[in-house]
Parts: sequence; C-alpha cells; structure tokens
Amino acid sequence: MKALVIYDSRTGNTEKMARAIAEGASSVEGVSVEVRRIGEMFPLSILADGDLTFYGSPVIYADVTEGFRSFLEHLKRMVEDGRMRMKGKVAAVFGSYGFDGAWVMEERMKRMLENIGYKVYEKACVETADSVRYRPERALENCRSFGREVAEAARGKI
Ligand SMILES: Cc1cc2nc3c(=O)[nH]c(=O)nc-3n(C[C@H](O)[C@H](O)[C@H](O)COP(=O)(O)O)c2cc1C
Repeated sequence: MKALVIYDSRTGNTEKMARAIAEGASSVEGVSVEVRRIGEMFPLSILADGDLTFYGSPVIYADVTEGFRSFLEHLKRMVEDGRMRMKGKVAAVFGSYGFDGAWVMEERMKRMLENIGYKVYEKACVETADSVRYRPERALENCRSFGREVAEAARGKI
C-alpha cells in the first residue's frame, strides 16, 4: 500500500509532525511512505497513485495556509475536469495550532478533503505549537501512533 504525507509548515511544527506520522505509517508492514512539502515540485499524479494521504497544515488566522488552500484548489480542479479521481481513497488530517484553532483541522480540513471525494479518517492528529516545541517526545509519539493507526485501518480496507 502506498501512503503519502503532504503538508505545509511555516515554522517547522507541522513539518515535525509530518515526519513522525510518516515514521509511524512506514512501521506498518507492506506500507511505503513518501513525504512532500507543498511548494516543492512534484507531479499531482502521485496523489492518484497513492491509497492513503495524510494532509497537514498549521492554523494561520483561523484557516489553513494559503499554500495549502491553493494546493487543494488545484487538486479539486483536476478532479472536476475528470483528470484525477479520489473517490474511495482515504485521507487523514493533521496539523498544529497556537491557541484556539483545533477546529480548523477537525472541521474545515476534513470538509475540504471530503469535497474532493476522499473518505476522511474520523480522528485527526492535532498538536499545539507549545507541545511540539516543549514536549516533543510526547507530541511526536502521538503523531507516530496516529500514522500507524491510520495505515493499519486503511490497509484493512484496501
Ligand atoms: C501569522 C500567524 C497567525 C496564526 N493564527 C492562528 C490562529 O488563528 N489560531 C491558532 O490557534 N493559532 C494560530 N497561529 C499559531 C500557529 O498555528 C502555530 O504556531 C503552529 O504551530 C505553526 O505551525 P508551523 O510551525 O508548522 O508553521 C498563528 C501563527 C502565525 C504566525
């Protein structure tokens, strides 16, 4: 099973989460994982080839980053044009926030992905900036467990 981790990050917190989630997912037998940061050059077709994609963004002014939003808009257009198909593929959401933004991952990001046709994993992986910075062992272990849990659940379905 192929899994991808696609993320944006401004100050590195969501990036650390992305790497820990990838570690967790790749610890599941038969799962290969690639990590890509939004803004790097890569073909969107890797998303259609993958079975499971983890999507991550920090919360900026009560929303995802502009880069993340624009990325999903490009993807949505490809789906609407019939050039890509996400139906039946599994997505899972993660991200970090500073104070009151957990709902952006729990609600907005999930909805954005459902609108493209993904089946979105119910649980999201959400950490505060402080826990990633000051309690990284616990925060990143949560991320590794999340990666493992979702990859195991998705593997069962594929
Ligand atoms: C310009 C700016 C706006 C932010 N707005 C919010 C916000 O509306 N709600 C929130 O909970 N955190 C907010 N934060 C905090 C970030 O979500 C938090 O620091 C996060 O861990 C950054 O992730 P990153 O290191 O991956 O960029 C904001 C941070 C910045 C720099």
